[in-house]
Amino acid sequence: MHDEKLLVSKIRKGIVIDHIPAGRALKVLKILGINGYTNYRLAIVMNVPSRKFGRKDIIKIENRILDARELELISLVAPTATINVIDEYRVVEKYRVRLPNIIKGVLRCPNPMCITNKRDEDAEAIFVLRRSAPLVVECKYCGTLIKGDEIEHSLSI
Ligand code: CTP
Ligand code: ZN
Repeated sequence: MHDEKLLVSKIRKGIVIDHIPAGRALKVLKILGINGYTNYRLAIVMNVPSRKFGRKDIIKIENRILDARELELISLVAPTATINVIDEYRVVEKYRVRLPNIIKGVLRCPNPMCITNKRDEDAEAIFVLRRSAPLVVECKYCGTLIKGDEIEHSLSI
């Protein structure tokens, strides 16, 4: 039996976010707005063995769906994530998250001189995807690059 299945059983209806890079599950929960006050019944599995990645995290949320925006945000912190939609205990849909080509209003530019960081300007931060693996995004205004793991420190949510 898989290590994961010893920890958490199958769910009847909801979503399973699988193949999250080890340690990133908490970031994904933050993106989904899930905190100590949530009413969703959910399970977080962290650091279980994965054939593909060595170790991985998994999140199971009952009776929840994900919208397009949430999927984009998840792709930034967990580009390897697989989304499984569960109904009556069966996986009825399975897909990988996809990185958006344009990322709006989610990342803060690390350059303090960037126009998007000036209080008297209301330029919205916009980043352009330059590479997927390893991840590289570029500020549309000043050209500053954010690479790989740096991305989680630049999230403005
Ligand atoms: N799962 C669940 N509840 C269900 C069905 C599936 O929690 N009723 C979970 C499984 O435990 C697994 C994920 O959803 O973590 C995907 O299920 P499945 O496709 O059956 O597993 P794998 O074939 O191992 O997935 P993959 O090929 O994507 O690695
Ligand atoms: Zn910038």
